[in-house]
Amino acid sequence: MRVLVTGGAGFVGSHAVVALMEAGHEPVVIDNLSNAHPSVVRRIGEITGTAPEFHERDVRDREAMAEIVSGGFDACIHFAALKAVGESVERPMLYYENNMSAGRSRFSTSSPSSASRTSCSALRRRYMEMRRRRCGRTCPSV
Ligand SMILES: NC(=O)c1ccc[n+]([C@@H]2O[C@H](COP(=O)([O-])OP(=O)(O)OC[C@H]3O[C@@H](n4cnc5c(N)ncnc54)[C@H](O)[C@@H]3O)[C@@H](O)[C@H]2O)c1
Repeated sequence: MRVLVTGGAGFVGSHAVVALMEAGHEPVVIDNLSNAHPSVVRRIGEITGTAPEFHERDVRDREAMAEIVSGGFDACIHFAALKAVGESVERPMLYYENNMSAGRSRFSTSSPSSASRTSCSALRRRYMEMRRRRCGRTCPSV
C-alpha cells in the first residue's frame, strides 16, 4: 500500500516508516522538521536499503498537501503534532492550531479512499481531555 505518513521523521513516525517499508509498503513522508533532524530520512534509507519519498512540508499548508495527496494514497497515518505537555499549557493556541487545524487541513485534501484508512496519533484525545478538565462540561467540542 502507498501510505502517507505525516510526522514521519519524528520518533514514532520514523519507526512506523521503517516497519512499513520492511513489510513491503510504500510510505511517503511529510514532515516540517520542526522537531526532527533531516538525517533521519537518510538513516531510514540506510536501515531499509531505500530512502522513502520525503516532502519537507507543513501539514497546515493546504496547497502543498493537495499537491502531495493528488498522487493518490491507500492509507494515511497522522503523527505530525506538537507534544510537549508544559508548552501546550503555556501556548494552547499554538497546539490547537498545529494539532487540530493541521488534521482538518489534511483530511480535507485527502481522497475518500485514504481517509477511510486513516490513523491519528493519540494527541488529539489527550488534548481534548486536558481541554475538558480546564473548561468543564460546558466546553464545546470541535
Ligand atoms: N512518543 C510516544 O511515546 C507516543 C506515544 C503515544 C502517542 N504519541 C503521539 O504520537 C505523535 C508523534 O509523537 P512523537 O513522539 O513521534 O513526536 P515527534 O515530535 O518525535 O514527531 C512529530 C513529528 O511531527 C513533525 N511535525 C509537527 N508539526 C508538524 C506540522 N505542522 N507539519 C509537519 N510536520 C510536523 C515534527 O517535526 C516531528 O518530526 C504525537 O501526537 C504523540 O502525542 C507518542
